[in-house]
Amino acid sequence: MSVAIDFAGVSKLYGDFRALDNVSFQVNEGDFFALLGPNGAGKTTLISILGGLNRASSGTTRVMGFDVQANYRQARRAVGIVPQELVFDPFFTVRETLTFQSGYFGIRKNDDWIDEILANLGLTEKANSNMRALSGGMKRRVMVAQALVHRPPVIVLDEPTAGVDVALRQTLWAFIRRLNSDGHTIVLTTHYLEEAEELCNRIAMLKQGNLIALEDKSRMLGRGKARSLVLRLQPRELPASLQDRLISQRDDGSFELRLPDCGALEGILAELKLAGISVRDIEVAKPDLEDIFLDMMQTPQPASPT
Ligand SMILES: Nc1ncnc2c1ncn2[C@@H]1O[C@H](COP(=O)(O)OP(=O)(O)OP(=O)(O)O)[C@@H](O)[C@H]1O
Ligand SMILES: [Mg+2]
Repeated sequence: MSVAIDFAGVSKLYGDFRALDNVSFQVNEGDFFALLGPNGAGKTTLISILGGLNRASSGTTRVMGFDVQANYRQARRAVGIVPQELVFDPFFTVRETLTFQSGYFGIRKNDDWIDEILANLGLTEKANSNMRALSGGMKRRVMVAQALVHRPPVIVLDEPTAGVDVALRQTLWAFIRRLNSDGHTIVLTTHYLEEAEELCNRIAMLKQGNLIALEDKSRMLGRGKARSLVLRLQPRELPASLQDRLISQRDDGSFELRLPDCGALEGILAELKLAGISVRDIEVAKPDLEDIFLDMMQTPQPASPT
């Protein structure tokens, strides 16, 4: 497997404040990678170091083998970044913005690709509108388009769906998924964890500038708490034989039981039947990425050696 992005011992200090603390990890070519963490964890700082917009205080960062400082131009060409903040020239039209961006990368005849990007992002009808006349969600679509004009092998999206409506989210993800299956490496930061869970194959978590988790999604989800079973019973009582499975009784009177595996379900239902208790409602709760994320963020981290 080839490496698309390599962070090696990256730290960033703002005065005395350590925004990134010796962060090392790799993103493989072809990954759909999620970079998660609460506000202020250092995600945007790491991405701006990757894009050469910010300098690390120490450590090295490579994109497709190019050092972001020593080989700035090649590294910059290898990556397309959709920034978290909207930055644009209000006097340009959408098409001019994209043509200008192509020129920045020395690409002259790019109209076919620009048209394809516009169509895929639902921007065709806005192509000749001035940037300042666009709604916030439309401006964000242009930010995505702008990152793609030079067909970068690595695409980084910093909160691309903040303030974006459901329809565009779906269009955007369909397009990004297609680019991923065409071989582009994708890195995504988002606070919508269900998006990360659905789209990504690998997940990193940052907390206060430290990398606290890095795993394949399936492994990370598998590490979560076991499933539980929520039952609404008639009458509202739990047979003595099931008391050792009880996690809690909820306010609405339903019982939450431990369910180590689905095989245990049959036994539980048999016990209820035996006790003459009928099941009014049943729900199996599986831990999702959000549960695991909250768990990770609440667990105190060992202090890093200084
Ligand atoms: N130019 C700067 N000067 C001083 N501190 C900064 C600067 N830029 C970022 N920081 C601090 O570095 C930390 C990391 O910020 P960063 O923007 O990377 O977080 P983030 O993970 O992207 O958060 P969010 O989810 O809110 O976008 C924050 O505490 C932030 O206040
Ligand atoms: Mg950010």
